[in-house]
Amino acid sequence: MQPYEIIKAKRDGQPLDPGDIRRFLAAYTQGEIPDYQMSALLMAIFFRGLSAAELAAWADAMLRSGEVLDLSETPGVKVDKHSTGGVGDKVSLCLAPLVAACGVPVPMVSGRGLGHTGGTLDKLESIPGFKVGLSTAEYRRLVHEVGCCLIGQTETLAPADKKLYALRDVTATVECIPLIASSIMSKKLAEGIDALVLDVKVGSGAFMKTLPDARTLAKTMMGIGQAMGRRVVALLTDMEQPLGRTVGNALEVIEAQDVLRGRGPADLTECTYALGAEMLVLGKVASGVHEARAMLRRAVEDGAGLAKWRQIIERQGGDPRVVDDESLLPGAKGEAVLEAAAGGHLCTVDTEAVGRAAVELGAGRLRKEDAIDPAVGFTLLKRVGDRVEKGEPLVRIHFNREDKVEPVKARLTASLKLGHVAPEARPLILERLA
Ligand code: URA
Repeated sequence: MQPYEIIKAKRDGQPLDPGDIRRFLAAYTQGEIPDYQMSALLMAIFFRGLSAAELAAWADAMLRSGEVLDLSETPGVKVDKHSTGGVGDKVSLCLAPLVAACGVPVPMVSGRGLGHTGGTLDKLESIPGFKVGLSTAEYRRLVHEVGCCLIGQTETLAPADKKLYALRDVTATVECIPLIASSIMSKKLAEGIDALVLDVKVGSGAFMKTLPDARTLAKTMMGIGQAMGRRVVALLTDMEQPLGRTVGNALEVIEAQDVLRGRGPADLTECTYALGAEMLVLGKVASGVHEARAMLRRAVEDGAGLAKWRQIIERQGGDPRVVDDESLLPGAKGEAVLEAAAGGHLCTVDTEAVGRAAVELGAGRLRKEDAIDPAVGFTLLKRVGDRVEKGEPLVRIHFNREDKVEPVKARLTASLKLGHVAPEARPLILERLA
């Protein structure tokens, strides 16, 4: 079929032939199909969806649009974790070294901040010298020698996704479950993993605001992975408030190091252990999550996780002294405090709005080409359910631009709702799918 006929078929809800899907995506990646025809097809998919057979062909074509790395020279089951994105989600920074210290190789290709959500690459780059733009050969060597490597998507890994993502971003076709699932899974499967743990975030700070949507996304991603012979487990986790106490790149590195020292906040530690335990079981170094959690705890207590983190930083060109001297990380010039205007309980947090406030402060990007400020961000001093007295500090704002403080305070004030009755506590891990 010609591109026109494929677009028309999807528009009219007729099934697409897997071969046509492969040829369409391959031709688009090669520049033989223009953006306007791909945009039309994406919008038709947005409204019509993809059947299981179409999705399998679509995801496979995305994966095969570039290099699929082979890490078989490294012994063991290679396991990665992917989060669908949230606010204050710095789990990868403490999880990857902990899991690697327990003997499971972790090849991790991560992303940058997207919209209101932070990105692992931006957090890593707040460490002076840390390089995320390694070649695939260096990546393979570090996975082999260190047991972990954290890089960004290269030109050769799933190039169809790189092109498609930029197009979706400007054609209002991002929020589409089959397109999100194939985008994420094509990158993850290209990095050379044997198994994957998905952290699908749910709530006001996540792309999926409801449990049913998050469940559908998780199942769609699991289906793609399983069809390609990979074991995939998903945890649906709460994003109704930022994870941990900090939002902002260098601040989040410090907090991840706190987890590695055994003094991280309870929610961040629990999220790290829950995901890490699944990784150790998939990696076949633990027979169950109970044993796996004990291994992770031991790697914190005996300092093996922190030592692995130092090694990762050093081998990726960063200054490992930041682990023991956090003043070597970028620090903000000033601090301001948002105080509670009234007493009560913290009832809800519009977490997406907190993420957008962090972007306004400089911790994220408004446009793709914007530089981020690694030093700025928030320390959240109260969690949902906490009692707050009038005038008590709610948020510490770490700023470099004084003119941003008042607008950011206004955004934060609007996003933190106080009330008289403490809300019921929500579990952090909402569901496990396997
Ligand atoms: N992250 C991705 O990598 N792709 C999407 O489509 C959405 C989030």
